[in-house]
Amino acid sequence: MRAVWPLVGRDDELKFIVDALMGKSAGGVVLAGPPGVGKTRLAIEAAEQARSNGFATFWVAATATTAEIPFGAMAPLLTDAIVSQADRFRTLARGCSALFEAAGGKPLVLCIDDAHLLDPLSAALVHQAVSTAAAVLLATVRRGHSAPADLTALWKDGRVERLEVVGLSRADSERLVERVLGGRIHGVSLQRLWNVTEGRPRLSRTWSANVLASSTPPCASTARASAASASMAT
Ligand SMILES: Nc1ncnc2c1ncn2[C@@H]1O[C@H](COP(=O)(O)OP(=O)(O)O)[C@@H](O)[C@H]1O
Ligand SMILES: [Mg+2]
Repeated sequence: MRAVWPLVGRDDELKFIVDALMGKSAGGVVLAGPPGVGKTRLAIEAAEQARSNGFATFWVAATATTAEIPFGAMAPLLTDAIVSQADRFRTLARGCSALFEAAGGKPLVLCIDDAHLLDPLSAALVHQAVSTAAAVLLATVRRGHSAPADLTALWKDGRVERLEVVGLSRADSERLVERVLGGRIHGVSLQRLWNVTEGRPRLSRTWSANVLASSTPPCASTARASAASASMAT
C-alpha cells in the first residue's frame, strides 16, 4: 500500500493550527488525541504550511528510548549546546540560544511528535523556548497519557492552545478509503468500515489493506479497484 495517503479533510483543524502558530497571541498549539487518529499527519501538514510562510521548522520525535536520556529528544538540535552529560545547567542555559541560532534569523516552529514522551530536561527546554518566545510549539500528545509537568504547564497556563483531534467525519472517511481503493464502495461495506474505524485513519489503512488482500473487493467498480490495488502494491 502507498506509504503516504492523500490528505483528506482537516481544513478546520489546519486553519486553527496555522492561526495558532502565526498569531501573536499563542505560543503554539498541542494536538491531543488517541493513537491513530491523525495527530502526526496534521502536524506534518501544518509544519509544511509554516515553512512555506517563512518559518524555520525543527522536527523532533520523542520516543520511549529518548525519554530515558537527559535531553535525549532534543539532542540532535543541541549538538553545540551540550557541554557534557554532567553539565546539564549549562546545556539548559545554552539551549534556547542554540535553537535561535539554528533558525538562522527566521521565526521558529519547534515540532515535537509524541511530546508526552519527552524527557524532563527536554521538556524544561521546550518550556523555556516558548516562555522566552525563542520558538512557537507544535506538539502532539497521546490523550490520557501522562506528560512532563513542564510541558503540561504550557497548556494549563494557557501559553499554548490545545486542540483535541477526533476522527474524520464519516463522509471524509469514506472519501479517503474510496480514493485509496480507486472506486466507489458498496453501502454495506461502508457501514462496516465506519463500525470498525469510527473515522480513525490508521484503522482505515488496516481495513483497506485487508480489502486489497481479499479476493472480493467491496467496490462497485471492481475493475478500477483492481487497477488501483495493483498500482498501490509496493
Ligand atoms: N486526514 C488524513 N488523510 C489521509 N491520511 C491520513 C489522515 N490522517 C492520518 N492519516 C494517515 O493515517 C495514519 C495514522 O495517522 P497518524 O497521524 O500517524 O496518527 P497518530 O499520530 O494520531 O497516531 C498515517 O498513515 C497517516 O498518514
Ligand atoms: Mg503519531
